[in-house]
Amino acid sequence: MTTPPLSFYASEIYLQGMSGNRPALPTDLSVIEAYAKERMEPEPFWYAAGAAGSGATHRANLEAFDRWRIVPRMLAGVSGRDPGATVLGTTIAAPVLTAPVGVQGIMHPDGERAVARATAELGIPMVLSTVSSHTLEEVAEANGDGVRWFQLYWPNDDDVCASFLARAKAAGYSALVVTLDTWMLGWRPHDLDNAYLPFLTGKGLANYFTDPAFCAALEKAPEEDLQAALGRWLPMFTGKDHTWEHLAFIREHWDGPILLKGIQHVEDAKQAADAGIEGIVVSNHGGRQVDGAIASLDALPAIVEAVGDRMEVLFDSGIRTGSDVVKAVALGAKAVLVGRPWVYGLALGGYDGVRHVLRSLLADVDLALALSGHAGFGDLRPDILQHR
Ligand SMILES: Cc1cc2nc3c(=O)[nH]c(=O)nc-3n(C[C@H](O)[C@H](O)[C@H](O)COP(=O)(O)O)c2cc1C
Repeated sequence: MTTPPLSFYASEIYLQGMSGNRPALPTDLSVIEAYAKERMEPEPFWYAAGAAGSGATHRANLEAFDRWRIVPRMLAGVSGRDPGATVLGTTIAAPVLTAPVGVQGIMHPDGERAVARATAELGIPMVLSTVSSHTLEEVAEANGDGVRWFQLYWPNDDDVCASFLARAKAAGYSALVVTLDTWMLGWRPHDLDNAYLPFLTGKGLANYFTDPAFCAALEKAPEEDLQAALGRWLPMFTGKDHTWEHLAFIREHWDGPILLKGIQHVEDAKQAADAGIEGIVVSNHGGRQVDGAIASLDALPAIVEAVGDRMEVLFDSGIRTGSDVVKAVALGAKAVLVGRPWVYGLALGGYDGVRHVLRSLLADVDLALALSGHAGFGDLRPDILQHR
């Protein structure tokens, strides 16, 4: 039996309509945030939607895509297209991954496990955050044969760091994504106005609270003395950044590919390549860290030019549509990570919600590729775009 194309989701929706059914959630992922705002509790909604400071970087991320336009080609003979991609040697259904998003239990009790199931089913990788609501082992179990990467918030404690890496390896996470831009939380007015930081009630700390190296320094188990456990966690999570030399420690304890997430400057990208790092994620954390920073998409072309032949360059911050994926890949990204849209899907519909959002995006990706006249993502070059 041949697998239907990703765009088949559209046919499925229209066919369902003949029985009077409509999708439970919007199919336009650029409006799902407004839809979620009406339906979610304000604290988790703003935890997802919020950005640093005035929101200038977040807006810039979205607006940057609008300045690039695709110039479609006709009679290109692409009905037999393949929207798949190869990232770090692994073939995936489309050049799309779910971005690491912390503390998903505030969105839905199934949290990261729902995302693990949906991504495995759809053939795209997931990136699990260090600050997950379910342990990395539980998420691995839900992900089964899926492709999973582990995102490291680099703990200021070498024993805990080494323990996380060993656990991730044992649980089948095939690549490590080290996030560099969040060694302290940015100034996030929505969360500040709500005085809302879920970690301070112990949420999102499943990996720490089940970790032998973390618990070894506690007199009582975290469930028995939450304050003491939080007192150990907080300085481990925040307040100290690392330097390039420290990457040797990560390399020593992780024998798979490493990607650095949060790169925006060409010189940082070159330094990563010089250090032998396998990949980077050109990202500004969805505008959640440095207010007034450049749009992530505006950082991409020069970085690809500088290091694209030496390492895998991935991209995130602002992807909302299939055309956004086409544009980012045309500008040199190997694949993109998507954050907020499926987080709203999770909050509003658990596994079904995540699956709907991801199927909508993948269908739109397939259609954007095909209708612009391309048989595969490998064919895309910057000259398929026009800059306005
Ligand atoms: C609610 C939320 C939580 C996030 N948590 C993490 C995290 O734990 N680790 C991380 O590296 N990035 C985290 N990010 C950033 C995402 O990985 C990604 O860079 C960003 O969401 C991309 O922008 P987009 O939301 O516009 O797609 C988070 C983003 C959001 C919205």
